[in-house]
Parts: sequence; structure tokens; C-alpha cells
Amino acid sequence: MKNFIYTSDIVDLNNFIDKSIKLKQLPNKYSMMGNNKTLGMIFFNPSLRTRLSTQKAAQNLGIKAITMNFNDEGWPIELEDKVVMDQNKSEHIKEAARVMSIYCDFIAVRAFPSLESKKKDLEDKVINGFKRYASVPVINMESSIAHPLQALADAITIKENKKNKSPKIVLSWAPHPKALPHAVANSFVNITKRMDAKLTITHPEGYELNSDVTNGVYVTNDQNEAFKNADFIYAKNWSSFNNYGKVFKKDLDWMITKSKMNLTNNAKFMHCLPIRRNVVASDEVIESNNSLILNQVENRIYSAQSVLKTIIENG
Ligand code: CP
Repeated sequence: MKNFIYTSDIVDLNNFIDKSIKLKQLPNKYSMMGNNKTLGMIFFNPSLRTRLSTQKAAQNLGIKAITMNFNDEGWPIELEDKVVMDQNKSEHIKEAARVMSIYCDFIAVRAFPSLESKKKDLEDKVINGFKRYASVPVINMESSIAHPLQALADAITIKENKKNKSPKIVLSWAPHPKALPHAVANSFVNITKRMDAKLTITHPEGYELNSDVTNGVYVTNDQNEAFKNADFIYAKNWSSFNNYGKVFKKDLDWMITKSKMNLTNNAKFMHCLPIRRNVVASDEVIESNNSLILNQVENRIYSAQSVLKTIIENG
């Protein structure tokens, strides 16, 4: 692994999850590994978990992190090639990536989609631009279409908490007042497809995800049917993919409630956070003993630490 852009950058997923769980038991075992190395973290969008967990992961390996909120503190970045830069964009991604490569040994980037142009968002231009022009490894801290560090933390959490060899995992759409990206859902589907698990996706009509991602996965518009015998319920909102970025439905009939969780096989509840209480899921569900949301949060450290450690080991 040289870069970590998509979950597909992990070759042997099972082994990677096991190594991450082992790392969690002795998080400071490799505290000298990253001595004299610098991680540059740039955020084009807000973050609580990704920012702190990635910084903590770096710290556990002895790496020093520099963080920039790029929209407030950096120059507006031009992504297109061969443009006359006489408008509001002051710095080209070519220079930004090359400059950061001089100061940093790894570059981590968060850049959400516009949710306006499907074509542009699918190109994932910011993260792929950094990958293309940087001379150091690049790590995706959530791009237009993927959130692989979250997906890896979720996979670790499922492995730690599953009670049978091949659990039934349900990714359920849930309501939200704003148009949200597809990145978490895409990466969760991509990673669980590679696990020993039975994945079902449930969403209202009109909220189909990218068929390139859901290809081969059972999808139903009947949330109650999906929940039957489920071992894990992963709640997430996303905006429409086909009617790109649109929100058709804000009523709460798809909210995850205790009565819906009662349809399951005593399922564990998961969500990547931040979560809108009593919109995405009820207080009762979020605070129940079956809620794994804080386990996911903790595992964000070890997913990032495992990725950084592997990149260092691979030279
Ligand atoms: N789950 C997640 O990525 O959280 P943040 O947006 O707070 O980083």
C-alpha cells in the first residue's frame, strides 16, 4: 500500500482487520516508527472524529501532524488543467500537492462532493489530484465518493462484535434534513462485500445508490423485511444518486426506532456520526446497550494507525 484512497487499496482485508485489532491491544508498541516524519492534514470540510482520530493515530506512531482548514486558511485551489487562472482560484493543485510533499511525509485530505455535478464528483478530483501530483503517500479522509478510514473502522467493529461467522448486515437509509454525500455508504458497501457477511441495503424508492457499487447486493424498499434476522443495522442518510443530490423525503417514517430494532436478531446498531438524534435514530436506539457508535469512534484511531503503519512499512 503506497496510498490509501479507496478500500480496494487494502489487498488482504481479513488480515488487515486482524492486524488492526492487534494494534489496538498495544497502540504504543510502534511509537518510534514515525520519528521525524510529518503528516500534513488538510480539511476542505468540517470534522470532529476524522481530524482527532487521525492525529491521535499519527501520535501513537511518533509522527507529528500539521493540520490546516484549507477553505479558511489556504488559497482557493484550481483543479482543472490548462486553465487561464484569472478568476478566483489562486493556487493550482499541482503546486499545492508538490509544496506539501516538500514539507510532509504523508498528505491526508478531506474534500466533500458538490452534490451538483455527478460527473465531476465521480471523478473525485481533489483526492485523485493530490495522489497524481504529490510525491509522498496520500490518505483519503473522506472524498466525494469514498470514506475508507470510516469503512475500515466499521469492518473492525463488526469483526469484534459479530456472534456468528457470517452475520446479516443491513445498511438502512434514514432521514436527514440536508442533502448528504454517498461516500460513507459507498465505502461501507465496498468493504462489507469483501467480508464474510450477508449484506442487505434498504432505502425508499428514489434513493438507489450507484449501481456500480451495489452490484450483486440484495436491495429492498421494505425496511421491515430487511430488518428481519439482522445482526447489524448500519443507519446512514444519503441524497438521491439518480436525481443527483436531491432530497425527496424528510418525514421520519424511516427513522431507526426501538420497535424496528425489535424486528432484528437483537442487532447491534451502527452509525458513523455525527448523528441527528430523533431524526436518523431515536435516543433509545442510540443509547441502547446494542449501540456500537462509540466502538466505531474508538476504532477510527486504529484504522488510521494501521494505514499509516502499513504505508511506513511499505517504504
Ligand atoms: N465519521 C466522521 O467522519 O466524522 P467526522 O465528519 O466528524 O470526521
